[in-house]
Amino acid sequence: MSTRSRPAVQDRASRPVISRARAAASAPWPPRTALVTGASSGIGRAAALRLAQDGTKTLLVGRNGVALDEVAAATGGHRFATDLTAVGAETAVASRATELLGDVDLLVLSAGIGAAGPFEVMSPNALRDLVTVNVLAPMMLVRAVLPAMLDRGEGRILLVGSVAGALGVRGEVAYSASKAALVGFADALRSEVRGRGIVVTLCLPGAVDTPFFHRRGAPYVRRWPKAMPPSRVADRMLAGVARGSAEVWVPGWMSLAARVHGAAPPLYRRLANVFG
Ligand SMILES: NC(=O)c1ccc[n+]([C@@H]2O[C@H](COP(=O)([O-])OP(=O)(O)OC[C@H]3O[C@@H](n4cnc5c(N)ncnc54)[C@H](OP(=O)(O)O)[C@@H]3O)[C@@H](O)[C@H]2O)c1
Repeated sequence: MSTRSRPAVQDRASRPVISRARAAASAPWPPRTALVTGASSGIGRAAALRLAQDGTKTLLVGRNGVALDEVAAATGGHRFATDLTAVGAETAVASRATELLGDVDLLVLSAGIGAAGPFEVMSPNALRDLVTVNVLAPMMLVRAVLPAMLDRGEGRILLVGSVAGALGVRGEVAYSASKAALVGFADALRSEVRGRGIVVTLCLPGAVDTPFFHRRGAPYVRRWPKAMPPSRVADRMLAGVARGSAEVWVPGWMSLAARVHGAAPPLYRRLANVFG
């Protein structure tokens, strides 16, 4: 059941068209409610803790029930343990959100997995799981939550991508491709819902100090840039969502690498071959 009165459902053509600036201004901030995937660890957990400080009611999604319990206790949020690779998981998550939160003001899509090593030896199962968690699950969840946001004429969607998706990192071929898919998804979605009250923000973090590297089976070995605390990424990306930003690079200077990549690909490739 919705916690707020909602205008009667309109067909797509008759829904009101409003400007991007007004979209950002009309969606409430801090959000009253948020559905956060990946809330049991790392960046998603940090985002849930930050949102709770602002009084946002959350539904915390992950697989690890013990870790979710800890975040739920710290935030007062609801928790829902599920594997996002399961068929129908997005429907179950969305209906749990409606039941426990009512309207979802903010959808934070942080669940993700990495993979490192030569692409040619990556197992087909690992490849399938990676694409399912990193690409299909966020798309399915947006698909499940977006119609109600459009009906209300407000809502915010935050996708956690990666600089790897903008640059293409050797040794992380499948991961880079999955995060590049989110770049295209966010761009196209933003364009499609433009003027209808929805903010779509893509965060592109560099290395973040979370269990991500241990889980993928390859530690973060670069001496520079240093891996950032997840709380910094959470603060920056949520501030970007509040502003209605399309993209949030953390750290911000990493967007320069993407600009070189876009403007002068041969130069970028030469530099990447030298610096890795
Ligand atoms: N760490 C980095 O350097 C870095 C850099 C750029 C982008 N990112 C992106 O940031 C996001 C968060 O990563 P992180 O660093 O916070 O990693 P993390 O600490 O390993 O957290 C990953 C989260 O995703 C959830 N998850 C993974 N597979 C799942 C599945 N099948 N079903 C449901 N939930 C699942 C995990 O839940 P359980 O633990 O409960 O299984 C966990 O909450 C990811 O999308 C990642 O690609 C990370």
